[in-house]
Amino acid sequence: MSTKTTIPPTVFVIFGGTGDLNARKLTPALYNLFLDGWLPAQFAIIGTGRSKLTDEEFRTNLLADVNQFSRSGKAKKEAWDKFAPHINYQVADVKAPEAYEEFGQRIAGFEKEWNAPANVIYYLAVAPEFFPIIATGVAKSHAGTDPARVRIVIEKPFGHDLESARALNQLLAEHYEERQIYRIDHYLGKETVQNIMAFRFANAIMEPLWNRNTIEHVQISVTEQLGVGERTGYYDGSGALRDMIQNHLLQLLCLVAMEPPVNFTADEVRNRKVDVLRAMRRFTPEMVRESAVRGQYGPGWIEGKQVPGYREEKDANPTSSTETFAAVKFFVDNWRWQGVPFYLRTGKRLHRSASIITIQFKDVPHVIFPAETVEGWRKNRLVISIQPEMSIRLQVQAKRPGLDMMLNTVDMVFDYQGTYTNETPEAYETLLLDTMLGDQTLFMRGDQVEEAWDLVMPILTSWQNRPSLSFPNYSADSWGPEVAEALVARDGFHWFTLPLNGKK
Ligand code: BG6
Repeated sequence: MSTKTTIPPTVFVIFGGTGDLNARKLTPALYNLFLDGWLPAQFAIIGTGRSKLTDEEFRTNLLADVNQFSRSGKAKKEAWDKFAPHINYQVADVKAPEAYEEFGQRIAGFEKEWNAPANVIYYLAVAPEFFPIIATGVAKSHAGTDPARVRIVIEKPFGHDLESARALNQLLAEHYEERQIYRIDHYLGKETVQNIMAFRFANAIMEPLWNRNTIEHVQISVTEQLGVGERTGYYDGSGALRDMIQNHLLQLLCLVAMEPPVNFTADEVRNRKVDVLRAMRRFTPEMVRESAVRGQYGPGWIEGKQVPGYREEKDANPTSSTETFAAVKFFVDNWRWQGVPFYLRTGKRLHRSASIITIQFKDVPHVIFPAETVEGWRKNRLVISIQPEMSIRLQVQAKRPGLDMMLNTVDMVFDYQGTYTNETPEAYETLLLDTMLGDQTLFMRGDQVEEAWDLVMPILTSWQNRPSLSFPNYSADSWGPEVAEALVARDGFHWFTLPLNGKK
């Protein structure tokens, strides 16, 4: 989010230092920020966990992770040798007050060495049950520090429901100012997601079309080919609605539906997003039955390999009624969007992994062409493809070359690969950099999280009270349960999937 600004001396403390998130995302992101020249010389990482490791052992483990997961590929020896000395390890029991004193001593050591006060960022890459104890321990150990210099980063899930999210917000508010709290939704760090604001608000031609007069409906679809795999421990208590819709998909919806902010500052942007959530129609139990559908995958074949159903995954509950697929029809009750349905769907073990936002425009008011010329006619569509393809396509009608007048649909395409040669940073690089720069634009504010929970609670409650009798109801490699097709078909639509390689 920034042009190269200087980052002040910083200590980055990672709780869950020996965990999966640090291995796959955090350290590779910090390493790439280092390679790209973002990190200051006065920079230290303290990884912490329960295992007893020396600094050297910890560095060796992280090197293997970087080699495996970094977008820049295997680390070059010379670069790693410069980066590694910034990494430190400290064994800690987060429940013990001494742990925080030890961090304090280490941080003071760096400040002495640098002869400068450090900003300290605490990243909670741990299970949510540890958030309160760590947040409290960190706050106590910084009782006398200028709040501008201490930040706390909270990974998802932020709460399990509205009540627990409120309780966590309250606890954080007792110890921190909102400007110190960075609630992660990694979708907001994705390059293509950040571009939605640029596309909407840096171009004059879109805004006049961006409303109920020209837009018929909107689809936000995040499909994943992977199954839950070994994550059933977490996933079974969560499900697709909590895991994806409450956060990532609703955030995408906010970016599509928000009013133009006055300027590009964190609170302006977040105010406009929370306005959307507040305007969203709340569900009655009756509406839940009509507008929200769920699914769970059974066994099947994906790309020639046999894959287990959700209930047969490792350590899974064989009678689980957790949904691995959810589709919901939402409305935003304001002047801009009245009557325009927003269909959101997400699921695991589907035919293909693709995250796309489709804006379907209304048809022309009157067709002047004879019926036989318009066989391939489609309403205009704007397709924002977030991943794996990174593109924006505007689908328009055009005359097919030839002596007769035949129309078909063609795509006007902006694709990242063809337009830019520089590599796209990972979402976590953007987000970690922003925590160091103190920019909260791409982070969730407390009120946003609570509004999003408030919105989905009636669905969660209703599903919990009525476990599905039809699970599993879709097979691996499909596009989900039939009820999801029916949800849009009833309104005369179908789910849009981007043809592979953009070809029809
Ligand atoms: C996470 C969910 O937040 O997002 C996962 O917990 C999901 O279940 C993942 O697979 C998807 O993220 P991405 O960046 O791979 O689309």
